[in-house]
Amino acid sequence: MLMPELIARKKAGLALSDEEIAWWVNSYVKGVIPDYQVAALLMAICFRGMSSRETTALTMAMAHSGDMVDLSTIEGFKVDKHSTGGVADTTTLIATPIAAACGVKVAKMSGRGLGHTGGTVDKLESIPGFDAALSPERFVGIVNRVGLAVTGQSGNLVPADKALYALRDVTATVDSIPLIASSVMSKKIAAGADAIVLDVKTGDGAFMRDLQDAFELARVMVEIGSAVGKRTVALVTDMDQPLGMAVGNSLEVQEALEVLKGKTGGALRDLSILLAAEMLAVSMYPDRPKARRAAEDALISGRALERFRMMIEAQGGNSAIMDDPELLPQPKKKILVLSNRDGFVTGFDTEAVGRAAVYLGAGRAAKEDELDYAAGIMLNKRAGDRVIHGEMLAVMHAGDRSDVAEAEHTLRSAIHIGSEAVMQRPLVFGRVT
Ligand code: URA
Ligand code: CA
Repeated sequence: MLMPELIARKKAGLALSDEEIAWWVNSYVKGVIPDYQVAALLMAICFRGMSSRETTALTMAMAHSGDMVDLSTIEGFKVDKHSTGGVADTTTLIATPIAAACGVKVAKMSGRGLGHTGGTVDKLESIPGFDAALSPERFVGIVNRVGLAVTGQSGNLVPADKALYALRDVTATVDSIPLIASSVMSKKIAAGADAIVLDVKTGDGAFMRDLQDAFELARVMVEIGSAVGKRTVALVTDMDQPLGMAVGNSLEVQEALEVLKGKTGGALRDLSILLAAEMLAVSMYPDRPKARRAAEDALISGRALERFRMMIEAQGGNSAIMDDPELLPQPKKKILVLSNRDGFVTGFDTEAVGRAAVYLGAGRAAKEDELDYAAGIMLNKRAGDRVIHGEMLAVMHAGDRSDVAEAEHTLRSAIHIGSEAVMQRPLVFGRVT
């Protein structure tokens, strides 16, 4: 096969065969075709798209490019949950212990933060002692015993995605629906679960800003999952403002604990219950209202909190943080951000809130950057809230490496205040099956 010919065909809007797709993916991973040819093909895909057959073929070629996780020694329904990435989105730390408390097996491989979005592995690693680099045997053992384990992606899981993602990142070819769908689904398929619940974010803190695009991405991912025999459901949910109030690693662990303890409600709690209910509905509770009640009951009864404790202990973390959050990394200083006017919060530039947290040290500006687990932002307002002059909008948690001036500037311009309250967006726009 000749790469220039494949590029030319895609450039002309024609489809590639399954064999051709498997060939270029494998050749690229082996290093026998150069970046510039793959970059040209990716750009042609951005403009011309891919059929569903091609998208599924790309997904499977990527999934099989490295290790496929074998969860067959775990008994019961194995359900995975994935968010396309957001700000203050800690639903994994709440929905997965709920699902585990109801009897579902959750063998979760999570990623690190990307750009302005947080990552579950980074959040959990803020717990002293927590080990998110489990061997396959230990991972499976903990899931069998506790019902839940969270580990980072093993070195050789979907190497094709690692290579392609890095190339897309620097060639302006990230925002293509077939490329995002195959990137996400190849990792989910390689991770071995029987069923997959997707949380597709839309709004100015999401990779898919536009609602129609988010629905299309959800539809394509559900179609791929179904084509390969995995029960897959997607919720399309709002990321036009941060989901929770905490942005930053140990802050988000603390907020998740507050929700699991029943001490706080709001959008983070509501969405976590909905996602947990979907995890139950694709597995043990096909009756959705029953699934919803089971999820709520697991949260309210404290059983989900207990599962979270068991998971932390099994993975070597200090579970005393659950009763004494002061044992989590603490910031050097806290800086209040006060409102300089009266009015209403009309909305957030969500991406900028995430970026402000990165300036404080909660995320990485470069791949090798070390995180400050204590750094981040506690928001005090949501869209629609009234504010008065001098009232607290947020608290910045800063450390030695924080660029406080840049963070404050970015955060202030990200919180929009107007003289009139505006209509609020729904939390969930729809469900795709
Ligand atoms: N998340 C992924 O895993 N892949 C993408 O392409 C975009 C978001
Ligand atoms: Ca917004």
